[in-house]
Formats: sequence, structure tokens, C-alpha cells
Amino acid sequence: MSGSGLRVAVTGPTGDIGVAALRALDASPAVGRVVGMARRPFDPAAHGLSAKVGYQRGDVLDRASVAALVDGADVVVHLAFIVVGDRGEARRINTEGSRNVFEATVAAGVGRLVYTSSVAAYGFHADNPQPLTEDVPPRATESFYYSAHKAALEDVLDDCVAAAATEAWVFRPCIVAGPGALTLIETTVRMLPVYGQLRLVRQALDRVPLLGPVLPDPGMEFQLVHTDEVAAALRAAVEGIGPPGRYNLAGPGTMTVGRMARACGWRSVPVPGAAVGALGAVAGRVPGLPPEIGWLNAFRAPTLMDTAKARRELGWEPRSDAESTLRETVAAARAAGVL
Ligand SMILES: NC(=O)c1ccc[n+]([C@@H]2O[C@H](COP(=O)([O-])OP(=O)(O)OC[C@H]3O[C@@H](n4cnc5c(N)ncnc54)[C@H](OP(=O)(O)O)[C@@H]3O)[C@@H](O)[C@H]2O)c1
Repeated sequence: MSGSGLRVAVTGPTGDIGVAALRALDASPAVGRVVGMARRPFDPAAHGLSAKVGYQRGDVLDRASVAALVDGADVVVHLAFIVVGDRGEARRINTEGSRNVFEATVAAGVGRLVYTSSVAAYGFHADNPQPLTEDVPPRATESFYYSAHKAALEDVLDDCVAAAATEAWVFRPCIVAGPGALTLIETTVRMLPVYGQLRLVRQALDRVPLLGPVLPDPGMEFQLVHTDEVAAALRAAVEGIGPPGRYNLAGPGTMTVGRMARACGWRSVPVPGAAVGALGAVAGRVPGLPPEIGWLNAFRAPTLMDTAKARRELGWEPRSDAESTLRETVAAARAAGVL
């Protein structure tokens, strides 16, 4: 990497958060060069990015590719992950791939490591304090691979940087959405046929017959954060604003499945939260179900986060609330033919 300003290496720049992160880093006067790495072909110029942003294809499971990416970087941003996917592939990429990135970053003497953990690291537990602050220790929901990976990787990261010169900024975003982040809608659309077959939904429909797609609504509130606001927090960390540490990220306000269903032009039926939770707990062990079903675990218990620390330490000011973030996401999903 060459040029003045910070040299930033980004894994997973092609995903929901990644493209927004590239835009935010491109716009940062403190950043001189950004190089992203993921597996698919990707042209930064086609996304309106300047020549400051480069891209190379590579896999985080390939230690040589990771070492080459982080060599000479001032900051590494690690986003590469399997959020929804095959359990086996997710385990390898999330755990081995992330360890490769953490170890290579430390071995290369990189000063700053920025990593997106998740609200899922806290686990979805009825006895979690509400709202969650960063002082609450992660306690994974072990039956949900994503939650287990996120909690375990925070420990792995701590071990990797413990005796190193590398400082780590670890973000715990809630569900991310926005016009460039359609995963929330895409995964929900893929789950619609499954929801239609669930006994708890069919029983509810017997009482209130409805036509068209239906979401089971446990009535629980959840948070949303806009990709651009996550990118703003990542940029702050890349620039070295605020102390290293853990930071919750969530936009103002909350969402429910019922309100989301209406925004998508669907219906919802009230179902007992405990039943959705029980389903989530066993879902990962039932063959033939889509991997998205694991996300039902997120509805086992309310898991709302306090974001005062990011606001105070990083000057982070999310302006998009849950309603407006969802509205933008739904409009983009309609334009893209996802809805
Ligand atoms: N989206 C959310 O709601 C959310 C919430 C909280 C935290 N997070 C965290 O934020 C990070 C980014 O999430 P996202 O929503 O942007 O995910 P995403 O849209 O699924 O993108 C994942 C990225 O990882 C890359 N990737 C996957 N496997 C890879 C491999 N073996 N080698 C190199 N790159 C690989 C993908 O590119 P290729 O497929 O081209 O390789 C893509 O760029 C993840 O750590 C995620 O857990 C996301």
C-alpha cells in the first residue's frame, strides 16, 4: 500500500456493511488508501468509489492472502463473515477465518483492528438486563451458531491482542438494514413458506383466516441500525477516535415483526414468544430447514442495547430511526424486485 494518510485493509467489503464502509472510508480525509478483499469479483469504480479504493480477490481461510492484505496496513477492518449460511461453512469461515485475520494483523504489527461482532454475542436470554450495556459479559445462545461464534471470537480477539501493540475496536451492531442492505428482507422472504407451515402460525390462522404472506409476531421489540450509521462508527474507529473497546450500535426507536410485516405489505399473527423461542432452540438440529431459521433465536427474549458509549466516546450520532431505516430498506427491496 502507498500514498499519504492511513492505509486501511478491509475484509468482506462486498457485503451489506462492507460497501457502506468503503464509501465512508473513501470520504475520510484521514484515509489515504483502502484495499478490500473478498471472494467474489468486485469493481470499486462501479460503486462510485474513487481510485483511493482498491480490491483484490481472496479468502480469509487462505493465510497467505490475509497476510498479503494486511501487510503495511495502519488499520485492519474485519467484516468477512457468514451471517446466514451452511453451519459447517459458517464455522470454518467465521472461526478459522477470523482467527487468521486477527493473528495476521497482530503479526504484521498493525496499530488498529476494527471488528464487527454483534448484538448476538450477548445471547438472547430472558434474564439479560434491558437495555444491555457493554459491561454485560457476552453469554452466547449456544444452540445458535452465529451467537456462539460471535461470543467466542471476542475472546479469541482479546487473546490475540493481549500482548501485542494492536488496539481493537469491537462493534456490536443490532440488525443492520438500509437501501444497500437487503439481507433482512431477503431472508424473511425465504422464510415465508416455512412460516406458513408452522403449527403455531396455522393454529393462529384458524382463528383469523388471512390471505397472503404471514409473519409470526411474538410482539417483541427489536432494534435496527442503518448501514451508513454503522459505516460512520467504523470510520471513527479507523480514524482512531475514542478509546479502543466494545461499542453497541443501534439506531433510535424499535421495530416489531407486526410493523415490519405491514411495511412489506404482509400480515402478521400474534404468537406466543415462548413458542418462537422453543422453535429457534431446536431449529438448527432439524435437517432440511433453511439456515435462516436459526435467526428465530433472536426472538427468544428482548435484546435491546444502550448506545450511550458510542455516542459519548466516538461522537456517534445515528439519525435514522427504526421506522425510517425499514422504510428505506423496503423501498429498495421493491425497486430490486425482492418484494
Ligand atoms: N447484517 C447485520 O445485520 C449484522 C449485524 C451485526 C453484525 N454484523 C456483522 O458485520 C459483519 C459484516 O456483515 P454484513 O451484513 O456486511 O455481511 P454480508 O452482507 O453477508 O457480507 C459478508 C462479507 O464477507 C465476505 N466473505 C464471506 N466469506 C468470506 C471468505 N471466506 N473470505 C473472504 N471474504 C468472505 C463476503 O464476500 P464474498 O462472499 O464475496 O467472499 C462479504 O463481503 C459480519 O461480521 C457480521 O456478522 C452484521
